[in-house]
Amino acid sequence: MEQITRFYGRRKGKKLKNSRMLLMEYLLPKVLVYKPKEKEIINLQNLFPEPKKNFWLEIGFGGGEHLAQQALLNPDVGFIGAEPFVNGVASLLALLNGNQDGEIQKTQNLLDPSRTDNVRIFPDDIRLLFPSFQDECFEKIFVLYPDPWPKTRHEERRFLIQTNLKEIYRLLRPKGELRIATDVHDYALWAVTQIEKTKSFVSKKKDIYKAPEDWVSTRYEKKGLKAGRVPIYFIYEKIG
Ligand SMILES: C[S@@+](CC[C@H](N)C(=O)[O-])C[C@H]1O[C@@H](n2cnc3c(N)ncnc32)[C@H](O)[C@@H]1O
Repeated sequence: MEQITRFYGRRKGKKLKNSRMLLMEYLLPKVLVYKPKEKEIINLQNLFPEPKKNFWLEIGFGGGEHLAQQALLNPDVGFIGAEPFVNGVASLLALLNGNQDGEIQKTQNLLDPSRTDNVRIFPDDIRLLFPSFQDECFEKIFVLYPDPWPKTRHEERRFLIQTNLKEIYRLLRPKGELRIATDVHDYALWAVTQIEKTKSFVSKKKDIYKAPEDWVSTRYEKKGLKAGRVPIYFIYEKIG
């Protein structure tokens, strides 16, 4: 296995309130993707109780608003979300539970009854899962508002570096879609350069300032808009 460099982001924020701790204890195990053993291959279909037509991956889902809503809108898709930030994982669990701020009973069915059981969570660095995914297993991959790491000496920490793009390419099925959003324009320029360098993706987005039709805004995006930052959206299609 290729050496994974360490994760430089935040893993913990403020202390979780009791209802979220309970969700971590009782709901997370039901939707968890375990860290695979070396050379173990994940059969995505086996992660879900019902057959899924496609699989979509969201890398760094933050508070999970986008993932939770896309999962609700696309019940026949199996979603994998990866996020090492514990508070983000707890926030997604609260959305799946449909009971954001109430206390939960450990005996109740923790998944909101309006939902299909179609989200699985890897509460860690996605790069640890990459080797266990089969080629061409995802129809869509989302990298939304990746940490910009603005200093040039931190360039290797930016998610859309060549090694990760190579994996994204391998995991997408032909004509599969890589969606990126950012409101850091220097990062956007850098990311486009990285993607063009691969010669493996073709841009499908004519107006990069217009959100895709099925866009779901996140708290992070709304904060940026309030602060006057302008979002940019990219959709790339895998060539081949
Ligand atoms: C700026 S936040 C954006 C969160 C969310 N995508 C949104 O739009 O609201 C970037 C997130 O990516 C996560 N992240 C960074 N590197 C990651 C990795 N290697 N695997 C999984 N998540 C990662 C961070 O923990 C952080 O929560």
